[in-house]
Parts: sequence; structure tokens; C-alpha cells
Amino acid sequence: MKLHLQIWRQADARSTGRFVTYEADDVSPDESFLEMLDGVNEKLILKGEEPIAFDHDCREGICGTCGVVINGRPHGPRPATTTCQLHMRSFQDGQTIVIEPWRARAFPVVRDLVVDRGAFDRIISAGGFVSVSTGSAPDANALPVAKEDAELAMDAAACIGCGACVAVCPNASAMLFTAAKITHLGLLPQGQPERERRALGMVARMDEEGFGHCTNHGECEFACPKEIGVGTIARLNRDFLRAALMRGRRPGQGSEGGAG
Ligand code: SF4
Ligand code: FES
Repeated sequence: MKLHLQIWRQADARSTGRFVTYEADDVSPDESFLEMLDGVNEKLILKGEEPIAFDHDCREGICGTCGVVINGRPHGPRPATTTCQLHMRSFQDGQTIVIEPWRARAFPVVRDLVVDRGAFDRIISAGGFVSVSTGSAPDANALPVAKEDAELAMDAAACIGCGACVAVCPNASAMLFTAAKITHLGLLPQGQPERERRALGMVARMDEEGFGHCTNHGECEFACPKEIGVGTIARLNRDFLRAALMRGRRPGQGSEGGAG
């Protein structure tokens, strides 16, 4: 395959970026998208030019680092597929492919296609965990969990923190990501003691990081490579509303940022 690539190049967050055109020859339809970029970089390095910076780690669809916008769609044209799991057979010979980084104020460009997704880590730090005493493993079935709850919690736990939901949202909202974490923990018995603080803390942090508000566009659900549904956002809203009301009834309760 021969492909015409238009790739965003940007030295850092303060520099002005621009699209640069590259030609990729001899691309195998069986290569992954990242292997195709590796090939472009090998040629750039041989020519003494700066390679294109892009993020990746597992290349198995589980770490969430590899997202780029491909022809206007986060992670490219295939549903439920991360950039690293996308293969070049999803494109046509001779096609032009436009590749750009996630665009969101809360995800500043580090270089070229790499953005800083540290804002997600800080949302997790604000409540996306359970505090447990460690020790010997508890007996199996010591904490019974209804099958339906276990299934829904596992579905939500599939979120890999890639940021595609933010990239696709016209408001650059992080609601789907935050809702996935709140749903995952809120459905399990271990998540109950910190449930109120979790909802208040994570939503407050999401706002502080500069993500936009959810206005129910629903694009996030379709861009998500792990098929996290917008039903999780309804759970987040319920938890947040209940926590805000409870806090109103109990003035003097700890601040939302102090979860954990
Ligand atoms: S909800 Fe989906 S799109 Fe958003 S960060 Fe998690 S896996 Fe990525
Ligand atoms: S490199 Fe890990 S999900 Fe793509």
C-alpha cells in the first residue's frame, strides 16, 4: 500500500504546530497503525530528520497510551479498537490519512502526537480508589457481590484511561472516564465507605483540570475503544447528587478533595 500522511508536528505546548505531509510506501495491510508510523520514523531517522513523537506502550489495547485522532476520529475508523490494534487493511491503497493529537485544553501537547494526560491521574487521585487494610487474602465469597453488579462493575473497569472520550466530545468533557471509575467502584461493597467523597472529589477535580461539561452529545460512547456506555454517566450524576445533598444535610463534613 502507498499512503499519503498528513501528520501534526509541534515542538511543545508553547510552539505553533502544523501539518507536515509524508509519503508511506510499501505498507503491508497486515501492519498495525503504529508499525506503519515506526516505518515512517525509520526513514526519517535515516535521512537525519526528527522522528514523529507518538505515545505507545502495550500495543495490546490495554494500557491506554496510544490514542491519536485519525481522519477526525479518535483511534481511527474501527469501533471498539485502539490505535495500536488498528491494522492498515482498514485503509485504502492511495488514501490520505490525517493524524493529529487529542485536542483538549486539559491535555496539552507534549510533542507532535503526544499529549499530557496527567489530568486523568489527578482525577483518580481525588477519589478513584478504595482504602483497604492489607493483610492475608480474605476467604473467597467473604464479600458476596450480586452477579449483575459484578458484570456491570467489570464492564466499567474496562476503561483504559485513553482519553478518546475527551477528544471526541465537543466540550472536551471527561465525564465518561470519570463515570467509568465511579461506576466500577460504586457497584462493589468495597467502594461504599468512600462513595460520597469519591463522587464529590472526582467531579471537583475534573472541573479544576479544565474539562468541559457534559451536554449529552453521546459521542464518547461511540469513540470509546472499551465500549463504556453513557449509562455510567447517569450513575455518576446520581452519586454526585446524592453526595451533594448529604453534604448539605451534614455541614462540617470533610471537603470533597480529601477522599482517602
Ligand atoms: S471511557 Fe473509554 S474512551 Fe474514555 S478514557 Fe475510558 S476507555 Fe478511553
Ligand atoms: S499501546 Fe497500550 S492501548 Fe495502545
